[in-house]
Amino acid sequence: MLLQIPKVLSAEQLRLVRARLDAAGDAWVDGRVTAGYQGARVKDNAQIAEETPLARELGDLILSALERNPLFISATLPAQVYPPMFNRYEGGQRFGNHVDNAVRLLPGGSMKIRTDISATLFIAEPSEYDGGELVVEDTYGTHAVKLPAGDMVLYPATSLHRVNPITRGARVASFFWIQSMVRDDAQRALLFDLDMSIQRLNATGGDENARTQLTGCYHNLLRMWATT
Ligand code: NI
Repeated sequence: MLLQIPKVLSAEQLRLVRARLDAAGDAWVDGRVTAGYQGARVKDNAQIAEETPLARELGDLILSALERNPLFISATLPAQVYPPMFNRYEGGQRFGNHVDNAVRLLPGGSMKIRTDISATLFIAEPSEYDGGELVVEDTYGTHAVKLPAGDMVLYPATSLHRVNPITRGARVASFFWIQSMVRDDAQRALLFDLDMSIQRLNATGGDENARTQLTGCYHNLLRMWATT
């Protein structure tokens, strides 16, 4: 499932994040530092070094916004979220086709996260740059994603994907991964559709007994499939 989550950050939060990133200077490092063998050969961008106070501060801001985002919670059913990272592409930089590493060590090195879902939160406005589309290939075909600043896209971490070369301006984004309580993308998508339908029935006042039963089905499926 490929899903757009609008307005994860408010205009005020975006301004703050953007100003801090634009002033980050030496904290920007070669993006290859966190790439695996496959990724390093096709990756060409800059990243804010992990475990810097700046990365932690801005990452926490995004995480607390996500904790209050019902669409994010329903779509990902998060068990763990990797601390958000930040990247910038400019002057022809790109990230060629790759699949994200399946398991990543959390900063600090003590815990691992399985990357079920990949997330990109756009921080630069599309009008600021040309190229830079996130292109995701899944079983339904190829999708080119370029969203307004503050919006986020979620896609299965199993997907082959790339970032097209930048031909003008700079593309600034945050990226991270989610380990879901429900590992399988198809099961997660089914639970998401069911949740959305129940919420719609609740809002439009459908038959109450049916709604109660459907809500029960949701939780019993989640109980069947979730690992915590
Ligand atoms: Ni990737």
